[in-house]
Amino acid sequence: MNLTRFPQRFVAPFCATVPTSTARVDNFAIEGHNLNFSFTATHTQDVPVLRDCSIRIPRGEFWMLLGPNGCGKSTLLKILAGLLTPTSGTVYVNEPKSFVFQNPDHQVVMPTVDADVAFGLGKINLTRDEVRCRVSRALQAVGLIDYMKRSVQTLSGGQKQRVAIAGALAEACQVLLLDELTTFLDETDQIGVIKAVRNSLDTSAEVTALWVTHRLEELEYADGAIYMEDGKVVKQGDAPSIRSFIEARQSAYINQINS
Ligand SMILES: Nc1ncnc2c1ncn2[C@@H]1O[C@H](COP(=O)(O)OP(=O)(O)OP(=O)(O)O)[C@@H](O)[C@H]1O
Ligand SMILES: [Mg+2]
Repeated sequence: MNLTRFPQRFVAPFCATVPTSTARVDNFAIEGHNLNFSFTATHTQDVPVLRDCSIRIPRGEFWMLLGPNGCGKSTLLKILAGLLTPTSGTVYVNEPKSFVFQNPDHQVVMPTVDADVAFGLGKINLTRDEVRCRVSRALQAVGLIDYMKRSVQTLSGGQKQRVAIAGALAEACQVLLLDELTTFLDETDQIGVIKAVRNSLDTSAEVTALWVTHRLEELEYADGAIYMEDGKVVKQGDAPSIRSFIEARQSAYINQINS
């Protein structure tokens, strides 16, 4: 897997750096069982980051991962992407999978939208018509079909994120791993990106997405969610119940510091 040319947005069709669970159930596109992870420090003790995390995300669903700063969301996502290897535990993620990072300016590499979406298709043996068809379908799914010939430099941050998602869809990615894509975006762009992901899943039963966010209002677009604290999965379930759970937790915390 060559990450040097394309460090920020990568598709890992044959990534096999993490142990694969034998207990995989076909209805789940993403599974992590009893995952532990520590950062290795040279002069001090290792820093434990994930503690016995287990998650299961059904195929074709849009799930969100929430939790306070530093609780381990990005670390868990990187383990699922194969960018980090867990200290122990097993992972299964359908492939190809794609990891899209936070900064929109790190997502696009080619001068025009259609060239960028087609970028990853060079490694697959496709005719020119097949490439054109995949690029159009992917741009349609993210609502950018009219931007096909636009220079990427003229796009907003959210449009760049959507081009990156289209690139993953064009490569027939089964799993999208998306880390706080809306952080740097204004409200219109935020909604555009989240709707693009929702629409991508609604138009293909094969695509599953895990979206890291801090914004509770984004849960309205999710099928399910996972809430983490201090390296542990505290709760996972349908989006409304996770939202209520987090709101109750936040108000208990506010009451505690006000008392
Ligand atoms: N390279 C590293 N070396 C040591 N510790 C690290 C490293 N990267 C992250 N950490 C620590 O691991 C913990 C989890 O970090 P992570 O980035 O996964 O959290 P997060 O939930 O994504 O936070 P945020 O919401 O701020 O993005 C934090 O305490 C962080 O300081
Ligand atoms: Mg993070």
